[in-house]
Amino acid sequence: PQVTTPSPVVRVSQYACQRRTTTENQNKIFTDAFEVLAENYEFNEIEGRCLAFRRAASVLKSLPDMVRCLGATEQLPCLGEHTKAVMEEILQSGRSFEVEKILSDERYRTLKLFTSVFGVGPKTAEKWYRRGMSSFSEVLAEPGIQLNRMQQSGFLHYGDISKAVSKAEAQALGSIIDEAVHAITPDGVVALTGGFRRGKAFGHDVDFIVTTPELGKEEGLLTSIIKILKKQGILLFCEYQASTFDMSKLPSRRFEAMDHFAKCFLIVRLEGSRVEGGLHGCRADGRGWRAVRVDLVSPPADRYAFALLGWTGSRQFERDLRRYARLERRMLLDNHALFDKTKTQSKKEMEKDLECKDGCVVTKKMGVKN
Ligand code: CTP
Ligand code: MN
Ligand code: MN
Ligand code: MN
Repeated sequence: PQVTTPSPVVRVSQYACQRRTTTENQNKIFTDAFEVLAENYEFNEIEGRCLAFRRAASVLKSLPDMVRCLGATEQLPCLGEHTKAVMEEILQSGRSFEVEKILSDERYRTLKLFTSVFGVGPKTAEKWYRRGMSSFSEVLAEPGIQLNRMQQSGFLHYGDISKAVSKAEAQALGSIIDEAVHAITPDGVVALTGGFRRGKAFGHDVDFIVTTPELGKEEGLLTSIIKILKKQGILLFCEYQASTFDMSKLPSRRFEAMDHFAKCFLIVRLEGSRVEGGLHGCRADGRGWRAVRVDLVSPPADRYAFALLGWTGSRQFERDLRRYARLERRMLLDNHALFDKTKTQSKKEMEKDLECKDGCVVTKKMGVKN
């Protein structure tokens, strides 16, 4: 009889922060399907199921090989009945009926299209859809619709900012931000974060943390950077949010998705001459520049580590890091700080945590919390 070597049993953690994951996804065929399902649940505000599919996708992304039979998923965490049924169908026929139905669904397609505009979230998209609009031209022609500044820029630069940003473009933007910061303060700190810090080759934007070693000196840094970019004539859009950070109010009782540091959401004009190897995906229309989305966040120096950790992503990694801290280490982590919960937690909260801890039970509450 043929002797086969048994494959070693590798335990896969239920926490993304405990799984080694490369940027090569061997299970794209499944994770793309899961993302459609997750997004559809998100549009329908079914948070628990949305999160379940995102978690399942994250588990599959961590595997070194493609899953070739359902038996191979037996030891994997976070894969429920529904996820496995979708996988089975894809394994058998190469496609999922449920996913294809969603992809051809009028409401899903419209919400997907509308939310692809910078400044348009699910709420606005839903509102436009319910008013009977299903294309950009219908939105732009509708007399009763008031676009905010962000949405106006979103439509104006739609072609450019929906194109992926390359690593070379991210580096070119890095030198622009670096120059600006060092013109303001020679000891300024600039760190590339987000997807590019994780080693991704492309992104939908470029994220930077900027600060100063001296505490308090970072106040006004963002507004000074904005001034410089404006003077250079390369600032196409800017929304600035001043800091609401208050160390004395930490730890906050509720988990907060957004941090309180000063930040700005920008659209920057990037000249082709600055980019080694040229502008990625720019049409050969003779135009020597493209618009790029840039996020800047400016924490005080003593919060730098937490901000860097929080802005590196991925979203699922961050969620699981906080969940791991809470459930396995009894600590509270966010973009501002790490706290020992054993000192502050009530008995009731502790019991609730213990209930969450087992397996991958996703309740609506956890969806909100994580
Ligand atoms: N983030 C955050 N607070 C915000 C915005 C973003 O903590 N107000 C975090 C997100 O959790 C994410 C990281 O910053 O981990 C980067 O966000 P984003 O640019 O949306 O995602 P990327 O992972 O960089 O992916 P992409 O390449 O699509 O930009
Ligand atoms: Mn990003
Ligand atoms: Mn994003
Ligand atoms: Mn971003």
